Amino acid sequence: MDRPIGMFDSGFGGLTVARAVIDLLPEEHLVYIGDTGRYPYGSRPQAEVREFARQLAWSLVNDFDVKAVVVACNTASAAAIDELKAELPVPVIDVVEPGANALVRATRSGEAGVIGTVGTIGSGAYDRAVAATGAAVHLTSAACPGFVEFVERGQTSGAEVTILAERLLAPVHEAGVDTLLLGCTHYPYLAAVIAEVMGPNVRLVSSADETALVTRDALAAAGRLRSAGGASAERTFLSSGDISWFADLGRRLLGPELRDANEWRFD
Ligand code: DGL
Repeated sequence: MDRPIGMFDSGFGGLTVARAVIDLLPEEHLVYIGDTGRYPYGSRPQAEVREFARQLAWSLVNDFDVKAVVVACNTASAAAIDELKAELPVPVIDVVEPGANALVRATRSGEAGVIGTVGTIGSGAYDRAVAATGAAVHLTSAACPGFVEFVERGQTSGAEVTILAERLLAPVHEAGVDTLLLGCTHYPYLAAVIAEVMGPNVRLVSSADETALVTRDALAAAGRLRSAGGASAERTFLSSGDISWFADLGRRLLGPELRDANEWRFD
């Protein structure tokens, strides 16, 4: 099926999921919206994030005729996934359940951690998702306000971010977790700093690869995979903020597939 996969995030974070989707499904057309004009979502009330998520998802359906929507943002998944699944006429894929599944598979000791935005951690979405797996895992959670802002500024290393990471990661570090889920799609861009602070014995897990696999399975089940061998995939990247910054930093983060960015309006 020739229709694109739609994806959205508050900004650049969902590009970690887009990278995994492009790698796993290189023949698929893609439309990605980064709501950089309204980021960060993590500190906003859930009801507001839910409205933003509905706007973005419906725009992907109505304006771009997507065949599936990947909610490439944990904060939006935590706030709106039930509504989106109920109201959208296409398959909806979130990042929380795939992330929780990847986490319980990866932990050896059963002492696991998750970090995310204030909105995600406060929602309890990961506690519920991990409990739903039925695995004997004890989860320690920590919110990391400020991490997303560093990524959006393109500052993914250095003393400032390391000092913040040492403070914010203290609860999961002290809990002795053996595995840490990066429960915000921006955080893989800070993986080097997080790994340094957590030490060599802690395994970092992100939801990107697992979400790409779930996307492939959902499309296959719906008979919506695009067959290989046709015209090359078209990938469209839109932002509600500064278009040239989205193209510049987005290309550095995602890679050469992000050639340029277009405007997306939220009015
Ligand atoms: N990438 C979003 C997430 O996964 C970041 C939310 C924000 O803008 O604070 O939660």
